[in-house]
Amino acid sequence: MKIAILPGDGIGPEIVREAERVLDVLANEGLPIERARGAIGGAGYDTAGEPLPESTLDLARAADAVLLGAVGGPQYDTLPRDKRPEQGILGIRKALGLFANLRPALLYPELAAASTLKPDVVAGLDLVIVRELTGDIYFGQPRGRRSTGNGEREGFDTMRYTEGEIARIARVGFETARKRSRKLVSVDKANVLDTSILWREVVTEVARDYPDVALSHMYVDNAAMQLVRAPRSFDVIVTGNLFGDILSDEASMLAGSIGMLPSASLDANAKGLYEPIHGSAPDIAGQDRANPLATILSLAMMFRHTFAREDVAQRIEQAVRAALHEGLRTPDIAATGERVVGTRRMGEAVAAALRNA
Ligand code: IPM
Ligand code: MG
Repeated sequence: MKIAILPGDGIGPEIVREAERVLDVLANEGLPIERARGAIGGAGYDTAGEPLPESTLDLARAADAVLLGAVGGPQYDTLPRDKRPEQGILGIRKALGLFANLRPALLYPELAAASTLKPDVVAGLDLVIVRELTGDIYFGQPRGRRSTGNGEREGFDTMRYTEGEIARIARVGFETARKRSRKLVSVDKANVLDTSILWREVVTEVARDYPDVALSHMYVDNAAMQLVRAPRSFDVIVTGNLFGDILSDEASMLAGSIGMLPSASLDANAKGLYEPIHGSAPDIAGQDRANPLATILSLAMMFRHTFAREDVAQRIEQAVRAALHEGLRTPDIAATGERVVGTRRMGEAVAAALRNA
């Protein structure tokens, strides 16, 4: 179990440290875990002048799985786009062919009060967003800036998907739905965009191979609304890169906090990169206030998807539940009157629960 560890920037190193506590427990039990560390994002830029140094990419290539913290910080905001921390993440996703991004949103009953939505709307929430991760307007060419005929500056990007790219993510959506309640919603903007018209066509074609899964289609604006109106009506959502980026941040608030949402980004052979969906939160970095649970839950996903150790995945998830059940809350998930603990204390509690499980 070769794991490349890329802490990144801001709260990245703190939350990854807590996930490593969990790895320590598992390694002590005898799991053959090997770790190697690399710099990415702003940390990559600071040490090697690149958000994705060649040495980091080599490390990730050699590993079975990658654990990533978060990237970005205000000190890098003025860098040219190709040097910005986000290029580290986008670059590694593309270079490793991690086209399938799984973002489960689950509301732990203990956190019903932490959501900004009414508890009766979010209670029992349990959905997965399957987001395409290496195509769409994120990577489409041409893109850039130019000057219009009358000398005005213009920025442009290209939304594009090939049918092959659509079909392979659709299959991941159908397979995911098959393991759950056999309901799949494909989200697009087919009332306006040609890319989306093709998307809808191809998803419908792929559906013929999955007659046991009920497929429906929804426009992205409606999906954004339905997610806050009736979030429990969703089970598995499959969508493109940009829409998935936006909808998964929205879904995180249903689960109480963006600090709770893990993700897996997989290639065709279950090699994966695992990261919380949240960012580097520079405003609280170094203050022992960040929630490490999304990162720890990402580790659970690593054992599930890359190492095919569902048993270990479930033990990690149980340990997170135990810490929540004990009443531990980082600031982002604390309701009024609840006991607030720091990043480290939360990580220790999960590790202790795992050790005793
Ligand atoms: C995410 C993030 C990234 C994205 C950024 C950091 C490039 O928002 O993983 O959702 O847009 O994909
Ligand atoms: Mg995002």
